[in-house]
Amino acid sequence: MKLKDKVVLITGGTSGIGFEAARLFRDEGAHVVVIGTNPARLTSAASELGGDVLAIRADLRHPADIDAAIKETIAKFGRIDIVYANAGAATAAPFDEVTSEQIDEQFALNFKGLFFTVQKAAPYLSAGSSIVVTTSFLNEVGAPGLSILSATKAAVRSLVRSLGAELAPRGIRVNAVSPGPIATPFHGKLGLSAEQVEEAASGLQASVPLKRLGQASEVAKAALFLASDDASYVTGAELVVDGGLTQI
Ligand SMILES: NC(=O)c1ccc[n+]([C@@H]2O[C@H](COP(=O)([O-])OP(=O)(O)OC[C@H]3O[C@@H](n4cnc5c(N)ncnc54)[C@H](OP(=O)(O)O)[C@@H]3O)[C@@H](O)[C@H]2O)c1
Repeated sequence: MKLKDKVVLITGGTSGIGFEAARLFRDEGAHVVVIGTNPARLTSAASELGGDVLAIRADLRHPADIDAAIKETIAKFGRIDIVYANAGAATAAPFDEVTSEQIDEQFALNFKGLFFTVQKAAPYLSAGSSIVVTTSFLNEVGAPGLSILSATKAAVRSLVRSLGAELAPRGIRVNAVSPGPIATPFHGKLGLSAEQVEEAASGLQASVPLKRLGQASEVAKAALFLASDDASYVTGAELVVDGGLTQI
């Protein structure tokens, strides 16, 4: 078991990539804490994961919610060994229709929420701990309608290097996993019609050298590598899991 008795905090652990990571990390021996906002998804994730899983409702756009979630985690498990800061969401819009509120909203979750999750968890991490974040293939390619999501992910990519430098003296590694187009509920929440989502998915699928969408479990395996001691000499890096989309 790669994560035996490790305490792992996974934001966005109730759906898609985060949920598959929670399942995999649990199977590798971890005590898992999942964070999300939707009560039904929290209940269902907790019951599917079973065991001593802790499911916490917290809106990461609000630093007070992050404080409360960390406090609850420490009250139950006493420490944190691994943070997988993965929660993210987006609203698609052509650049001439993007509003100030949309920019604030997406940065509030994808960048600030992630930043404060790491900042507030950091005091409870010790040497050998690992932080993994989820970026995106959108760091590397331009996609119409996704300028703000892409900018948030580019900011997170940069943050991985900065935090990697700041936390290296404490023996804490910081890395990113960068998914390509993955079959999860994410695309259905972009504010597009089902037809537009379908069209975008087939376009992307055709552009991916491996000619298919990825599975959440395939990203979870890369996150496991970065989270575990298998990656003990890896920090500041971004592991790309995108079927070759940004690489070939
Ligand atoms: N799917 C893709 O093609 C793809 C590609 C590249 C990168 N990514 C990135 O992968 C990460 C996971 O996405 P996914 O595809 O697994 O999507 P998903 O299935 O929609 O999962 C998103 C998760 O984030 C949580 N979340 C959303 N808003 C939140 C908030 N304000 N506070 C706390 N938690 C919140 C959701 O919980 P609730 O629903 O309970 O709020 C859910 O657990 C995201 O950062 C996304 O940008 C995805």
